Amino acid sequence: MEEQGVKKEELVPIFIMGKRYDVPSSLTIQKAMEYAGYQLIRGCGCRGGICGACGTVYRFPGSYKIEVGLACQTVVQPNMYLAQIPFFPATKRVYDIEKVKPSIETIVKYYPEVLRCLQCNTCTKSCPMDIEVMDYIAAAMRGDIARLAELSFDCVMCGLCTARCPAEICQYNVAILGRRLYGKYILPKAEHLTEMVEQVRQGKYEQMLRELMDTNEETLKKLYNEREIEPEQADEFWEPKDKSFL
Ligand code: FES
Repeated sequence: MEEQGVKKEELVPIFIMGKRYDVPSSLTIQKAMEYAGYQLIRGCGCRGGICGACGTVYRFPGSYKIEVGLACQTVVQPNMYLAQIPFFPATKRVYDIEKVKPSIETIVKYYPEVLRCLQCNTCTKSCPMDIEVMDYIAAAMRGDIARLAELSFDCVMCGLCTARCPAEICQYNVAILGRRLYGKYILPKAEHLTEMVEQVRQGKYEQMLRELMDTNEETLKKLYNEREIEPEQADEFWEPKDKSFL
């Protein structure tokens, strides 16, 4: 029944573990599951599209296509048959970042399976973040660490690419190695950060922090909204100045 002035929201059928539930059409998969009575103890973390804990696969009746999404971001659609993917078992090699080089040899030493890539593009099609996963694996195979780091930057490690890769590559752990190598050896050092850390160590901001801790919420909000914001980094952020070792 429609309450006065309030339009009743349309309900749509979805199927969780094969069982039908009618849920409000504006809910995300995650909220719809809770609406249906599920208590999410696993497969739920940040609820904001950042942690990658809520990787979900679904299909529509009569369709060959497996669809993917983050449950906390994807809004339900009628007749979704869905299942959440738990943390996917994946190889994660151990290395000392101080002792490795930003080179193709390092990638192949720790993740030789990248060479098994068939270029089928299933990983890219499985990525709920629309990352060009196959392209960053191709960059890894060429030893192009900067490109590997750049293309994989938005990865939330949900594991959907790994779940579907016929070459059994764990793409997101290759990407982590790439970004660590990039941050450690290729990206120019942020001198202002080093200076700032030193100033923090010397206690320069101690007094200011104590004053902030004693400030009321309203003033804190005002200070936050009026803060100085650094301009966005341009694309050349990813371009290493010294390319001699690439
Ligand atoms: S719960 Fe963190 S990405 Fe969905």
